[in-house]
Amino acid sequence: MEREMVIVLDFGGQYNQLIARRVRECNVYCEVHPHNISLEKIRQMNPKGIIFTGGPNSVYAEDSATCDKEIFEMGIPILGICYGSQLMAHLLGGKVTTAPVSEYGKTEVEINTGASLFRGVSQKTICWMSHTDYIEKIPENFQITAHTPVCPAAGMECPEKKLYAVQFHPEVVHTAEGVTILRNFVMDICGCSGDWKMDSFVETTIQSIRDRVGGGKVLCALSGGVDSSVAAVMLAKTVGKQLTCVFVDHGLLRKSEGDEVEEVFGPNGPYDLNFIRINAQERFYQKLAGVTEPEQKRKIIGEEFIRVFEEEAKKIGAVDFLVQGTIYPDVIESGLGKSATIKSHHNVGGLPDYVDFKEIIEPLRMLFKDEVRKAGLELGIPENLVYRQPFPGPGLGIRIIGEVTAEKVHIVQDADYIYREEIAKAGIDKQLGQYFAALTNMRSVGVMGDERTYDYAVALRAVCTSDFMTADCAQIPWDVLGKVANRIVNEVKGVNRVLYDCTSKPPGTIEFE
Ligand code: XMP
Repeated sequence: MEREMVIVLDFGGQYNQLIARRVRECNVYCEVHPHNISLEKIRQMNPKGIIFTGGPNSVYAEDSATCDKEIFEMGIPILGICYGSQLMAHLLGGKVTTAPVSEYGKTEVEINTGASLFRGVSQKTICWMSHTDYIEKIPENFQITAHTPVCPAAGMECPEKKLYAVQFHPEVVHTAEGVTILRNFVMDICGCSGDWKMDSFVETTIQSIRDRVGGGKVLCALSGGVDSSVAAVMLAKTVGKQLTCVFVDHGLLRKSEGDEVEEVFGPNGPYDLNFIRINAQERFYQKLAGVTEPEQKRKIIGEEFIRVFEEEAKKIGAVDFLVQGTIYPDVIESGLGKSATIKSHHNVGGLPDYVDFKEIIEPLRMLFKDEVRKAGLELGIPENLVYRQPFPGPGLGIRIIGEVTAEKVHIVQDADYIYREEIAKAGIDKQLGQYFAALTNMRSVGVMGDERTYDYAVALRAVCTSDFMTADCAQIPWDVLGKVANRIVNEVKGVNRVLYDCTSKPPGTIEFE
């Protein structure tokens, strides 16, 4: 049976992923594709609807992102958002120019409540605007469906051709009724029924992996993180003992984490798989000795991880399939846009192509993080594992500023453990996106008992974020912070000061390096 799908055409806007996630929240499968995808490919995908994203250009500028005008004749409903709405107007004979007044931020928009896109939306509704151009004249046969005092065509439609457009961004949370608008488009206008459900995804994926793998040998690099754990369990359920999971303990994990991973995936755990734990701590510490530059540290850890894994893979020999926990944001980010490298992220997804295996299996390739979690629950993975906060591939290596040593790893592990314990006790762990302790490279003078100390400062970080691309500093109650600080200086040797990081992202990043 063919699954219904909506596609998002990416014109370079920052919210392309978000639009796709919102559509999937309506239980409709959605993929992001480049704006210049051919009409032939679109026909093959047979989407129920198309959404044009925003974008940084002006539609009338030379070399601006565009699409084949024939797309409007395909009979598929199209929703243009921001740049996408202007492009629709521009290509269909309307006029787009620089607006006399740009709008940015939360803006009250007056809508025509009779328009099908706005069914159930209040007549005056707060929407997120971000534009310097605007549609001065709409194309023939279109009607205006929304406006603001300075934007005469904040919405337009041509229902006969199933074309709809909004100048604002319904996908961001600041648009109060954005979800209703997107739902109206996807369900009412495109006629989707909402057949994208995790249980059927898991079932069909397991079946297709089974067909593909047959009796072959499968290898999985397991980090204990959510993505690789869900991928491993899916494979374990499918091929059992044909699967070997290699877990490299690089000595940069949180306190007790290596043992926790072993408990779940090792011989005493619930899954029937071959589990190999490599304790490579010393090897990593040696490579990192004397290195202080963050990017160099990241590269060393990534490279060494690959070496250790590769050696193990060679011992196992002639592996047919390698499992990777790649998820959809990785696919979108690496395939569509170009952005500056802030940090070279690495995770177990970036494994070598020179290991001796024939094919790669990426069972989560089309899932967003929240969907990976749902799939994990569907597979019966315990909630505490499924809802783990993200932990970076280079681990504590990037939470220790400056040189990494075994001693510093112990300090940050102990401080972090206390922090997590107190946050859990306070019952606020679910409200926080990510929180951890880091070890600064700063030593300062303190007094303990009657003794002078000259010890390290630990920094506590906690952020609220939905996408990890931007984040706000979380406001942890003072009494909780006070308790954590008190316990850390008393219980962790080598620390005499605790700082709280109040920076948002941007301009800070979530991790310290
Ligand atoms: P930043 O520090 O860039 O982090 O604001 C954003 C999110 O990504 C995680 N992170 C990583 N994850 N490998 C990973 O798998 C990495 O190298 C890496 N660096 C940062 C970070 O924990 C946060 O959730």
